[in-house]
Amino acid sequence: MATPINLSESESQFFQDLVPPESFNIKKIQMEEFTKRHSLLKNRVVLITSGGTTVPLESRTVRFIDNFSIGTRGATSAEYFLKQGYAVLFLHRHRSLQPFFQRVEKNILDILSVSENDPTVITGEISYPSLAKSLAPVVKDYHKYKNEGMLSMVEFTTLTEYLILLRAASEAMQACGREGMVYLAAAVADFYVPRGLMPEHKIQSSEGALKLTLEMTPKMLKPLVKEWSPNAFVISFKLETDQSLLIEKSRNALLVYQHQMVIANILETRKKEVFIVTMDAEEILRLSDEELAAGREIEEPLIDKLVEHHTTLLLS
Ligand code: PMT
Repeated sequence: MATPINLSESESQFFQDLVPPESFNIKKIQMEEFTKRHSLLKNRVVLITSGGTTVPLESRTVRFIDNFSIGTRGATSAEYFLKQGYAVLFLHRHRSLQPFFQRVEKNILDILSVSENDPTVITGEISYPSLAKSLAPVVKDYHKYKNEGMLSMVEFTTLTEYLILLRAASEAMQACGREGMVYLAAAVADFYVPRGLMPEHKIQSSEGALKLTLEMTPKMLKPLVKEWSPNAFVISFKLETDQSLLIEKSRNALLVYQHQMVIANILETRKKEVFIVTMDAEEILRLSDEELAAGREIEEPLIDKLVEHHTTLLLS
């Protein structure tokens, strides 16, 4: 049993202020059933957060602050975790990229299937003969993991929805014990407008220039590591634009939050270079321009390494 920690005043206040989204209970049950089922099946499970959160400026929201992330990291990582045998609980921003669907231009995966006689032939209502060869593995993998119940999708939009769902998802991960991994790739707003300070109606431009005061979002890694998911292998991400801060800030996060690993990346180079940072080591993974041009994805070697680390930890 983990030692209960006291949430700081700002964290407690933050959760007291939260109004759970309408579908919260259904999503909570979905997540609990998923982690319990896979724990009984002795599957490893990874909770992946993906995409950016929004920060509404009005209760009846017309305007909001958004984040650049479109969810490539999360969606691509999910595919490689599935290939490694992990069940994936995918907590993602509404309409951000999704595993497998990110690789087809329209949402046609559900109406396509791969012919059993010839797995390079796609059957379905729409025929794309020229694309069939490249699409076949995607269609096949999608149906395989869907039929096996290895992927569970849960959506958020706002920062508060994200945090309340993150807490429920991390608590659901307790069922997986040390076989569980939490992979926090979502880009989470650091500032928000508390509910009590938010105007109900659309802010009027006739009232002149808009002055905004945003509160700091409390960091949720601390309760996540100590209380919500105390036995999971927890990996956070660190995004910077200044390379000279990257490793120091990642290590500082490990010191403060006491989790296992930070994946550090620079905004412009995030698709070809990442750093795996632990308390006593850092390792760089980098794709060459030739590899990138050939369509290799940095998430492939990254997930290989993370699975290795997880296995080592489980054997220790
Ligand atoms: O989606 P893409 O376009 O592919 O981009 C991928 C990415 C750049 C978004 C991804 O690789 C990445 O770096 N994600 C983390 C970005 C981020 O929010 O970093 P941060 O320094 O704000 O937060 C660090 C960690 O603390 C994050 O793992 C976050 O989940 C966590 N956090 C953040 C805010 C908060 N209130 N509580 C938290 O626990």
